[in-house]
This record gives sequence, C-alpha cells and structure tokens, in this order.
Amino acid sequence: MKWLTSRYVFPLAVVTLIISLCLQCAWIRQLYVAQKKSVATALESIVSDASRRVIYQSIAKGHEKSIRFQQFFLSPEWLALRQAFDELKVDNLRSQFHYGITNDSSVVEMKMSFLNDPKKKNSHHSSIAITDGKSQQEVSQQDQRDLKVMDSLVNHRLDLLGFHIDRSYALYDYSDGKLVKGKTVSNAKSAFLSGKYTYNLKFQNRYQLVVPTITWLIIYQMKYYLISSFMMLVLTAVAFYLLIRLMKNQQLYAQAKMSFTSNMTHELQTPISTIAVALESISKYHLIDEPGKLENYINISRHELQRLQAMIEKVLKQEQMDIGKTKLQFSLIDIQSLLKQVMLSMDIQVREKNMQLILVPVNEPYFIKGDAMHIANVCYNLIDNALKYSPAQSRIEVSCSIADHELTISFKDNGPGIKEIYHQQVFERFFRIFNQDNIHNVKGSGLGLHYVKQVVTLHGGRVALQSKIGKGSNFMIILPLYEEN
Ligand SMILES: Nc1ncnc2c1ncn2[C@@H]1O[C@H](COP(=O)(O)OP(=O)(O)OP(=O)(O)O)[C@@H](O)[C@H]1O
Ligand SMILES: [Mg+2]
Repeated sequence: MKWLTSRYVFPLAVVTLIISLCLQCAWIRQLYVAQKKSVATALESIVSDASRRVIYQSIAKGHEKSIRFQQFFLSPEWLALRQAFDELKVDNLRSQFHYGITNDSSVVEMKMSFLNDPKKKNSHHSSIAITDGKSQQEVSQQDQRDLKVMDSLVNHRLDLLGFHIDRSYALYDYSDGKLVKGKTVSNAKSAFLSGKYTYNLKFQNRYQLVVPTITWLIIYQMKYYLISSFMMLVLTAVAFYLLIRLMKNQQLYAQAKMSFTSNMTHELQTPISTIAVALESISKYHLIDEPGKLENYINISRHELQRLQAMIEKVLKQEQMDIGKTKLQFSLIDIQSLLKQVMLSMDIQVREKNMQLILVPVNEPYFIKGDAMHIANVCYNLIDNALKYSPAQSRIEVSCSIADHELTISFKDNGPGIKEIYHQQVFERFFRIFNQDNIHNVKGSGLGLHYVKQVVTLHGGRVALQSKIGKGSNFMIILPLYEEN
C-alpha cells in the first residue's frame, strides 16, 4: 500500500466526492421525473374525482338512498365511459346523450352516428343539452352553482396536499371546445393542465385545472430525499476532511519524531565524542605529568557529562509528564521574584548574544499557586526560545498583567515570528519549524513548548501565541491568580 500515500489521498477523496455528487444529482433527477409523473397523476385524480362527485350530486336529489344509483354514478367505469364519450370528437361524428331518472329506474343513453364516406358532410359533433323543461337561464344558473361546487371541491382536495400551489381553472364550451373563461399557461414545461371534465349532465362547459408551476410541489414531496442526500454529502465530506487531517497530523508527527531521534542522537554523540577525545589525549600525551592541562581536560569532560545528564533528564521528565506521573508540589509563588531569578540564571546566554532581556516592572506583587520548579522551567523555556530564535542584539520583553482573576505573563521578542498555520502545532510534541530562515541551524528537540503547555494546563491555565512572520512573537501563559479573600 505504499503507493497509497497521503499524496494521493486528497485527490482521491476529491474525485470520490465529485463522483458521489454526480451520482446523487443523477439519482435526484430521476426521482424528480418520477415524482413529476406521480404529482401529475395525483392532481388529475383530484379533478376527475371531483367531477364524478359533482355530477353525482347534481342528479342524486331524491335518490341518495339508492345503492344501485350510487354504485353506478360513483363508479370509475362510469367516469371513464363518460369521459371517453366527451373526448370522442371525430370529424362528422354526431353524438347524443340522454338520461332519464324516475323513482323506479334510471336510463342513460349515449348515441353516436357518423357517415362512413368522408366526402359527405354530416352535422358537427353535437350533444343535446338536457334542460328537463327548464329555461336556458335556469340551466345556466344551475351550471354556475355546479361549477362553484366543483371548484371548491378541487381546491379543498388541493389544500389537503399540505403545500399551497397557485391554481386557477379554465372553462371550455362543451360543443365547440372553445375557451370561455380563465386562461391556460403558455410556458407549459413546469405547468400542469388537467383533462377537461364535465361537472353535470347539462353539457354546457368543461372544467380544466390550471397550475402554472408544479416544481415547488414536487420539491416539497421530495424533501426527505433531498435532505438525506444533502446530509450524506456533508457527512462524507466531513469524514474525508477529518481522515485527511488525521493522516496529515500523523505524518507530521512521524516526521517530527524522526527528526527528534536524529537530533537527539547528534546531541548525545557530541559530548560522548568530546569525552572520548579528552580521555584519549590524557593517556596518549601522559597528561598525568602536567596537572594544569589534566585539570582542563577533566573540566571539559565534566561539563560535557553535565550536559549529557541534563539532556537525558529533560527527555525523562517529558516522558513522565506524558504518562501523567508528574506530581506537582503546590506553593505560593511571587511571580515577579521567580522571573527575576530565572532571568538572572540566563544572564550569560543573554550577554553572549548581546541581547536585551527586560522585565517590565509592576507596582504590586502577583501571586499564583503552583509548582515553583515547573513554573520556573516554563519561563526558562520561553526565554530560551526567544534567545535561540531571535537574531543577536534583539530585545526580549517579559511582562505581567492581570485581568478577570487571571495572570498573564508574556514573553515578547522581535525575532523571526511564526506563521499562523503553526500557532497550534508548535505546542505539539517534537514539532519544530524547519523551513523558516535562520532556524535551520538552531538546535533543539521540539519538546520545550509541549512541556510549557502541559505544565500550564496542569495549573488550570492556558497558553496563547501572537505572532506574524517577520514581526516577532509574543508567547503568553495565562494562569489563575491567587487572591486572598
Ligand atoms: N520565540 C520564537 N521565535 C520563533 N520561533 C519559535 C520561537 N519559539 C519557538 N519557536 C519555534 O517553535 C518550535 C518548537 O519550539 P520548542 O521550544 O518546542 O522546541 P525547540 O526549541 O526546537 O527544542 P527544545 O526547546 O526542546 O530544546 C521551534 O523549533 C521553533 O521553530
Ligand atoms: Mg525550545
């Protein structure tokens, strides 16, 4: 699996995301088409059902209790038959419809006649309006009432869909099919036009439902699919992002660990070689006879041994802190005097680099509860970094301030600064910045800031860093202030 290194993981994740996005789009498109059909079917059945019911109501007076009557006039077959009769408008077809309902029986007659020879003219498609002896005005009034019932029934059923859609209706003359009321829609792609339905047996007009757009209704019906597919995409993207970040972190950690090992090996090798050379020189040049030179060599060896011991201790201390074995010895600390002591112990390094290390004075002492040895080490590490990474003759300023029952100690230098992307990582174990100018040559194990963060966290505090490349760094440790009640 070596070829599957992180170099390929990012493009692979992006390609996978794009493919799944495309698949989701294709799936949603298919679903949209299917849903459009089912919405159209549902709307059509609302209108046809309303037509069936309104026709039944218009003739049912006095026959409500007749089961046969209901069976016939409410059956879907009757609806289909009547709709077919209404739709059948072949050239030269003469059709006649008649119904008679008495107390005992109901008669429905549908009669169609046409001449076989197309050259001969018959009268046009026509139906006989059934007036039941009523005047034309009475028939029109009845027709208006039936139309209102039809429209309100359709609207009621549409409201039950749970989503408001704009709608209107169009009326067509039964005989010649011309539009007599309302309007149809010109942009018909997302529009819905139902079939034309009669709403009584008077054959005056036919009703058509007009919905200018059904797109939002379809989207409403698809809401759960859309939400789940969106969630799936987001979750996949988040999972990929976390995985890539984890891999990157692990890679960085592995790199840092490797450089720590080589760094440490080098650091340990130097004192060992120096001591070996010193011992060899003592025996080779019989320095026992030259006490002055002998003492010099012994001092060099002792100094190197101390350095070796300090390095081993540092790694061991870090190890103990990592596994949580370190026990803190809490006492009251006057932070100003602790800082002065630490700064005094670093005087030689400061002078060597010709730097200025300044403690900004404060009027009153600030106290914290903490482990004096570890807090001193924290300050030492931060000043040591400022000294190590800033060029000669720089100025390092240490200052204290209090706010909201917290004490902030800041270590400000005007060194190279740290890129914002490394602000979190510098506190990670073994992490060192390699690609920054003039830091390449500075030795270190990458443990200092990790130790700082751990100690400060164990004291209930936190660390902060303000830094920009070329503008110096300001490392801050924020600790709970000790206050007498
Ligand atoms: N004041 C600073 N200015 C610029 N870069 C800094 C500063 N302090 C720390 N850094 C960067 O942060 C990295 C981590 O610092 P840290 O103190 O943890 O390790 P180190 O100094 O390399 O080694 P150690 O402190 O263990 O001897 C350093 O390698 C350096 O790149
Ligand atoms: Mg350091």
